[in-house]
Amino acid sequence: MSQKTRIGIFASGRGSNAESIIKACRQGDVSAEVVVIISNNEDAYIHQRAENHGIPSFTCKRVDFDEGKAFASALIEILDKYSVDLVLLAGYMKKIPPAITRKWDHATLNIHPSLLPRHGGKGMYGKRVHQSVIDSKDEFTGVSVHFVDNEYDHGEILLQSEHVSTSNETVESLADKVLRVEHEIYPEAVKLWISKFSNKMH
Ligand code: GRF
Repeated sequence: MSQKTRIGIFASGRGSNAESIIKACRQGDVSAEVVVIISNNEDAYIHQRAENHGIPSFTCKRVDFDEGKAFASALIEILDKYSVDLVLLAGYMKKIPPAITRKWDHATLNIHPSLLPRHGGKGMYGKRVHQSVIDSKDEFTGVSVHFVDNEYDHGEILLQSEHVSTSNETVESLADKVLRVEHEIYPEAVKLWISKFSNKMH
């Protein structure tokens, strides 16, 4: 039996996607374990969630380092210390250093609350994504899980959700509806990644 995939999560805020991944792993739906959580924000609720689940969490900010290289090394040191196989961005509001996507090539994923390439890119986060969907009069939206490269919301798509109807939705109601889909699809994407890529990594 192969070992469980070791996941490191980057998150900046409330961490509901991190929670869904942790639960899916703990329930045995996904053959993986969340072993460490990293945030750029010491006040983020994600730290409380980590503590609730007994998962170590760290705050690591670019501003605390003179050079980008030193920042990247500090992040890599944490990921290595916990022998992370798969890096998941779950509401991480910063760009991940290229040294990480190089080292975890095809092993760094992000979730975005739209059907990329629509409504992605710099500045497209939170309610802005759903506002953009409604302003564009799109009939459907959805969720994308994609590999991370050096551009926001840009890398190859691993999995997209079913279409989510925008009919009669407000920005708030659409955000709630899409978030529920996110909580289903991110664990599914991790399962898919494990089946396709995990044995190629280590
Ligand atoms: C989610 O909508 C995710 O798609 C986006 O940021 C949000 C994070 O929410 N990248 P949460 O912190 O996981 O609750």
